[in-house]
Amino acid sequence: NLKAVIFDLDGVITDTAHLHFRAWRTVAGEAGIDIDETFNAGLKGISRMESLRRILCHGGKENAFDNEQQQALAQRKNTLYVQSLASLTRDALLPGIRQLLHDIRLANVKTGLASVSLNAPRILSALDMGAAFDFCADAAQIARSKPDPAIFLAACQGLGVRPQEAIGIEDAQAGIDAINAAGMLSVGIGDDLRHADLQLSSTTELTWRCLSGFWVDKHQ
Ligand code: G6P
Ligand code: MG
Repeated sequence: NLKAVIFDLDGVITDTAHLHFRAWRTVAGEAGIDIDETFNAGLKGISRMESLRRILCHGGKENAFDNEQQQALAQRKNTLYVQSLASLTRDALLPGIRQLLHDIRLANVKTGLASVSLNAPRILSALDMGAAFDFCADAAQIARSKPDPAIFLAACQGLGVRPQEAIGIEDAQAGIDAINAAGMLSVGIGDDLRHADLQLSSTTELTWRCLSGFWVDKHQ
């Protein structure tokens, strides 16, 4: 039986990708590296330090900054990003999400969060969603970024369910790969995702009816 639905945050609950992009573009620009939206799409679901490594590689500057300088660049990006979060209110919740979380609870299924963002608690409280999930995996305890399944496995463990009893929802390829590697059923939101067990174009289609029907279909 389905026991839990585990959500990614950025791109599933709310859309912060453009805020991450603006902050990274500024910091990359200061380091003499140009990044565009297409490159940024590949950073979805990737942790802060791993994102920085990819940006430096992209600009051919992987050896130009020592550890301490890299920490400073990541810190600077985060300061800009956190400043931009001031614009986030409960209206920034993506369509259908509040109703979906309500309906999942009514069905006695647990809800979890599996975001590698260290800002997840701050974002949840800005959205007024601090109490919306039964368990939020702590990104600070996770050493490996998605596509490693660690964060989803931590969420399953915190909820007391087996991965085979859970659905994971993601907007990033690294996230879909993480869910599949965890042994959960995967739901992809958006276009150009590969290997999602169910693919939806936006959260508007993401209803409890759709999720519960999908689960039954896969277990016949
Ligand atoms: C999410 C976003 C990524 C971001 C990561 C870490 O996965 O999709 O773009 O790099 O969180 O976020 P943080 O808030 O810890 O820098
Ligand atoms: Mg995401």
